[in-house]
Amino acid sequence: MTPVFLKAMLETGWHLVITFTATLAAITIPLQLVFNQTGSEIYSWEILVTLLFGADLVYQQVSLRHAQEEAFPHLRTVPAKSRGFWLAVDLLSALPLGFTGLSPFWSGLRCLKLLRVAQTMHQWRQRILKFSDLLKLAFFAFWLLLISHWLACGWLALIADRATGDPLTRYLSALHWVIETLTSVGFGEIVPVTNGQRLYSIVIMLTGVGVYGYVIGSMAGILAKRDPAKNQYFNNLDQLSAFVQYRDIPPALQKRIRDYFAYIWKKRLGFDETHFLSGLPRGLASEISLHLKREILDRIPLFKDVESDFIEEVALNLKPDVYTPGEYVFKEGRPARRMYLVIKGVLEVVRKDGTVINVLKEGNFFGEIALFTDQPRTASVRAVTYCDLYILEKDVFLYLLEQFPDIGAHMKEIARRRLERDENQAPVPGGGLHS
Ligand code: CMP
Repeated sequence: MTPVFLKAMLETGWHLVITFTATLAAITIPLQLVFNQTGSEIYSWEILVTLLFGADLVYQQVSLRHAQEEAFPHLRTVPAKSRGFWLAVDLLSALPLGFTGLSPFWSGLRCLKLLRVAQTMHQWRQRILKFSDLLKLAFFAFWLLLISHWLACGWLALIADRATGDPLTRYLSALHWVIETLTSVGFGEIVPVTNGQRLYSIVIMLTGVGVYGYVIGSMAGILAKRDPAKNQYFNNLDQLSAFVQYRDIPPALQKRIRDYFAYIWKKRLGFDETHFLSGLPRGLASEISLHLKREILDRIPLFKDVESDFIEEVALNLKPDVYTPGEYVFKEGRPARRMYLVIKGVLEVVRKDGTVINVLKEGNFFGEIALFTDQPRTASVRAVTYCDLYILEKDVFLYLLEQFPDIGAHMKEIARRRLERDENQAPVPGGGLHS
C-alpha cells in the first residue's frame, strides 16, 4: 500500500466519522428539544461530539495549510472570506454549548457541521465518477429524510397539546404526517387547527411540490445519461423508422442499417471520444488517447519498437470508423484523403476486374500508396466482415512522415513491395504487411 493511498484511505475514514457524527447530532438535537431529554448519556454524547468536531477543526486547518504550502499552490487563491467562513462553521459546531446553561436551542449550532457534510458529499461525487449519478440520488434521499425528520420534530412541537401516546408513537405519527403532506397534500387525518399549524402545513405542501419536480427531473436525467451508447442506439432506430416512412428503403438495406446500429451499440462505438478529447489540453488528451489505444497500437507490427513520440502523435490523431460486410472503404481510381489501420475484421484488396489481390486482417494497414505517390487509389478495399478501423488523415500522415523519416522509409518500402507484387499480379501471402 503506497503512502498516498494510505493517506487517502485515512482521510476518507475521517470524513466518514465526521459525516456520521454530524448526522447523528442533527437527528438527536431536535429530538432532545422536543422531548426535553436530559441525562448522563446525553452528556457523554455531547463530550464525544465536542472532541470529534474539535479534532476536525484542527484537521481542517492543518490540511488547508498543507495544501497551500505543498501539493496544491493554487489553493492559495482561496479567498480569506471563505476560509473565515469555514473556520466559523467548524468552530461554532464544536462549541460545547449544551454545558453552558444557555437555552437548549443553542445546541442547534452543531447542525452547522452539516455544511461540511454537504462539502464532503460533493467531493465524493467528484471522485467516484463512475457512480456519481447513484451518489446524487443517495445523497438526495439522505437530505430528504433528514429534512423530513426536522419537519416532523417541528410539527410535534407545534401540536404538543394534541399529541398523545409514548414518544415513539408521537414521533412516528408526526413523521408519517410530514411524509404524507410532502408527497401528496395529506389525507386529512391530522388537521392543522391553529394558524401556526396551517402555515406550517402550507410550507410543507409547497416544499413537496419542489421535491417532486426535483426527483422526477433528476431521475429522468440520470436514466437518460446512464448508458449513452444505448440511448444513441434507440435514437438511431427512431430516426431510421421515421426515415423509412418517407423514403422507400428496401427491407434488406433496412436490415443492414439496423445491424450496423446494433454493432456500434454493442461495441460502445457510438460514444464520440474524439469530441470529448478535443475539449482537453493537448498533453492530457494525448495521454488519454495513448492509454485508450495503447493495447491496439501494440498489436500493429508497424508500430513495434518505434519512438514513443511517434506513437503518442498517432494515438492523438487516430479516428475510429466502422464498415459493414460488403461495404467498400474506397474504390480504385478514387482520390485519396486518408490511410487506415485494421483493428478488427477482414478486408479484401480488389482490382477493378474483381480479382482479389490480398486479404487484410487485424494489425495491417492500407491506403498508404496513394498518399505517398499523390495518385488515385491503386485498388479497391472492401470489408468482408464487420471491420473496426482507425483513420489517419492525409495531412497528419504526411506531417508524421516528415517528423519521423525512419518510419516513413519503412512504410515506403512496404508500399514499394506491394506495388511490385501487384504489377506481377502475384497475391501476397498472409496480408503481406508484416514484412
Ligand atoms: P492505395 O493505393 O492508397 O489504395 C489501395 C490500397 O490497397 C493500397 O494503397 C495499399 O495500401 C493496398 N494494397 C495494394 N496492393 C496491395 C497488396 N498487394 N497487398 C496488400 N495491400 C495492398
